[in-house]
Amino acid sequence: MTWSRFKTHCHPYPALGLTLDLSRIPFPDDFLASIEPRMQQAFADMAALEKGAIANPDEQRMVGHYWLRAPQLAPTPELAAEITATLAAVKAFAAKVHRGEIHGPAGKFRELLVIGIGGSALGPQLASHALGGQKAGRDKLRVHFFDNTDPDGMDYVLKEIGRKLRQTLVLVISKSGSTAETRNGMLEAAAAFKAAGLEVPRHFVAVTGAGSKLDQLAIAENWLARFPMWDWVGGRTSELSAVGLLPAALQGIKIDQLLAGAAAMDKATRQASLGANPAALLAAMWYFATDGCGAKDMVVLPYKDRLLLFSRYLQQLVMESLGKERDLKGNIVNQGIAVYGNKGSTDQHAYVQQLREGVPNFFVTFIEVLKDREGDSLEVEPGSTSGDFLQGFFLGTRAALTEKNRASVTITVPDVSPRTLGMLIALYERVVGLYASLIGINAYHQPGVEAGKKAAGSVIALKLQLAAALKAAPGQTFTAEALAAQVGGDPELAFKILEHLAANGAVRKTPRQPWFESTYTQA
Ligand code: PA5
Repeated sequence: MTWSRFKTHCHPYPALGLTLDLSRIPFPDDFLASIEPRMQQAFADMAALEKGAIANPDEQRMVGHYWLRAPQLAPTPELAAEITATLAAVKAFAAKVHRGEIHGPAGKFRELLVIGIGGSALGPQLASHALGGQKAGRDKLRVHFFDNTDPDGMDYVLKEIGRKLRQTLVLVISKSGSTAETRNGMLEAAAAFKAAGLEVPRHFVAVTGAGSKLDQLAIAENWLARFPMWDWVGGRTSELSAVGLLPAALQGIKIDQLLAGAAAMDKATRQASLGANPAALLAAMWYFATDGCGAKDMVVLPYKDRLLLFSRYLQQLVMESLGKERDLKGNIVNQGIAVYGNKGSTDQHAYVQQLREGVPNFFVTFIEVLKDREGDSLEVEPGSTSGDFLQGFFLGTRAALTEKNRASVTITVPDVSPRTLGMLIALYERVVGLYASLIGINAYHQPGVEAGKKAAGSVIALKLQLAAALKAAPGQTFTAEALAAQVGGDPELAFKILEHLAANGAVRKTPRQPWFESTYTQA
């Protein structure tokens, strides 16, 4: 690493207030020129996508998340009008909730329970954590999440809300409107409201595709409001649709600034010039660092607590988009880039030891935030603040990794504000799109997620068969293998299901030796 390499490959973007330092990725001098023709094709693909081409061929869908912050670029006036009207409806709804014009039986809503998963949770969680409570007590509503079908997890959240359920507004977010985890969360929340003598329709709001199961339920039960989710916005790129904007606006986050940050980044990353386009440069770095085939993992290390969930958000955006078995021509390529990370300097006391000295199978993305905090800082040592130490640990860790030839890029941002978060979201959406073009894959479908959903459905079906077989033979005992044979199911799955039922008191287990000869009977 030299000062001269830093001067050549550190790119400040003053209009954005963001700097991208590529100097610690050891690409040779001719690399950027060599990738330029492919990048020009990626720019052309992206321009076509933004004009409304079917960029998701498997699902025959347009890919339009960029229009959410520039409705004037949507391919039809109808789409532009829908985006604008939805944004206005989000703002109007949030304002009415804040003013108490839309309220619960106990007056103003003070708590917000968001129920969703994957793309319908990770963006809202990121924004809520990064931008919430920036000044003491500033959040208009206190936000909670159900993002799983874990019963105990939901109990934990409901306990946190406690007696404030009467003042709780619930957003059920699901693009498809039929995701099992979200449906279960909704049913569990509804049961809690009913048990507290509260009427679900006076608390619940849906964000979903028009005509979905969730939409039909919200209409039938006359919920407080419904907001649309469109098939041309993917779950993992939906933070700047009603999916992310509604919870953020309700929390009191300045959503216009989120959108403005994303729009500014889109403008910068729409440029068809590799040198001038931070997303293209980052995509080129991913290509170099991973040999264009995911040969190395991406460790994301923001040195800022508020950005803790950014690595988790990127994990979905990158891995669900790029992790594909086949390329667009149908060849088996098993593409992807593994993403993990939490935050510095905390992770220095966890896995950074391995990064420096262990298996060199990664590159790091450091995110440096210049502003330490609102207001003055204490001197924790003469002349130095906690923020000075945070920067010291960031620069120290980065140098220690460089010393051992571990590659890294650094993104420097001024603060963690709505505008900056909007910029980061838009930056990575564009990097993923450009990189997907470079490696020739469809970044906008998720067949693996669908496969997991189907597999879970068949487990539930087998569970029902096993329970029915036990019920039909009261007092009779079965090994897992025997019961599986009786219903024509897989014995290992049957064993796992019976163990779970036994642990929850739904069947009675008699332990035997060896363990797989244990028997089960109707409880
Ligand atoms: O990005 C995606 O498409 C997925 O992660 C979805 O967001 C996730 O499966 C949830 O789907 P839905 O919003 O339809 O409930």
